[in-house]
Amino acid sequence: MIEKINKILSEVQEFNPKDIQEIEVFRIEYLSKKGKISALFDEFRNLDAEQKREVGVKINILKQTATEKLNQLKEQLFVDNTGKVDIDLTRPSEAIKLGARHPLSVVHNQIIEIFTKLGFSVSDGPEIEDDNHNFALLNFPEHHPARDMQDTFFISEDMNVLLRTHTSSVQAHEMTEQKPPIRSLSPGRVYRNEAISARAHCLFHQVEGLYIDKNVSFADLKQTLEIFAKEMFGEHTKIRLRPSYFPFTEPSAEVDVSCSLCGGKGCTVCKYTGWLEILGCGMVDPNVLEASGINSKIWSGFAFGMGIERITMLKYGIKDLRLFFENDIRFLNQFISAI
Ligand code: PHE
Repeated sequence: MIEKINKILSEVQEFNPKDIQEIEVFRIEYLSKKGKISALFDEFRNLDAEQKREVGVKINILKQTATEKLNQLKEQLFVDNTGKVDIDLTRPSEAIKLGARHPLSVVHNQIIEIFTKLGFSVSDGPEIEDDNHNFALLNFPEHHPARDMQDTFFISEDMNVLLRTHTSSVQAHEMTEQKPPIRSLSPGRVYRNEAISARAHCLFHQVEGLYIDKNVSFADLKQTLEIFAKEMFGEHTKIRLRPSYFPFTEPSAEVDVSCSLCGGKGCTVCKYTGWLEILGCGMVDPNVLEASGINSKIWSGFAFGMGIERITMLKYGIKDLRLFFENDIRFLNQFISAI
C-alpha cells in the first residue's frame, strides 16, 4: 500500500497541466469523492492498528500535497478566454467602464460655478432643523397658514425638531451666526410630506442664495438672476418677475425664464405660455434681519431659492422627477458627456 501511495504522490508532484480542463481532470482523478485518494482512505479502514499508524501519516501527506498543488495551480495560472494556460502580456487590458455624474450633480455644480463667479461662497447647514431656523426666524409666525404650504415632516412630538422644508433655514443660520456683508449660496436636500409623483417627491434639492450688504436693491436681485438665467439656459434667455408671497421676503417675486425649447413661441413644456417658472426670490424682510440681530436701517439684502430638480428637468427636457431617484443606468448613462 505504501508503494501505491508513493506512486500516486509522484504522479501528483509531476503533474504539469496544459490548460484549465486538465486541472479539472486532475481534481476529479485525485481529490473528488470517487478519486484515487478517497479510494486509499477506504482501503486504509481495513488495515490493522499498527499499519494504520504508518499508512495514515503517508495518506495525509499525499492529500495535503495534492490539495496544495491544486490551489497553487488555480492561483498561478492566468487563464484567458480560450481556457489555455497562456499569459499574453501584450494583450490590452479590458477597458474600465466609466460612470457618469448624476444629472442633479451636474446642474448643482453648474449653479455653484455661476454664482461663485458673482462672488457667492458655498455654505452648509443641517438637514435636521429646529422650528426656529426653518420657520420662526424667517418670519413665519406660530399658527400662520404659510407653514401649511410646506408639508413638514416633524421629528419630535412637540413639533420643534423637523426635517428642513427649504434651504432658507441656512439663511437663518448665516444671519444669526455671521456679521454682514454676507454673500452665500446654500445647496442641499430638503424634505416635504408630499405624495410621490412625476412632479413631486418627499425629498428634493434646493439652492438658496443670500446677499446682504449696504444699499442692496431689487435691481441688484434682478440683474443677478438675469445673469444666472443666461448662463444656465443660454444667452438669448429672458426673465420675467411675477409678484408673489414668501413670509421672509418683501417684496417677493417668482421668476420665469423664456422657454428654451420653443424660444418663447409656446409648446407643451411651457404649456403654450412661452415661460417656465424657475425660482422664488425677494428682498429680505426687515423683520427677518432684525430677528437675527442685523440692523435693517443699515443693511438690506435679497434672497432667492430654486429647486435643482426643476432646473435639471427644464434644462434636459426630463418629464418625470422620479427618474432622478431610480438609479436606472440607462437614464444615468445619457449624462456621460455632461461634466
Ligand atoms: N424657500 C422658498 C421655497 O422653498 C424659496 C425662496 C427662497 C423664496 C428665498 C424667496 C427667497 O419655496
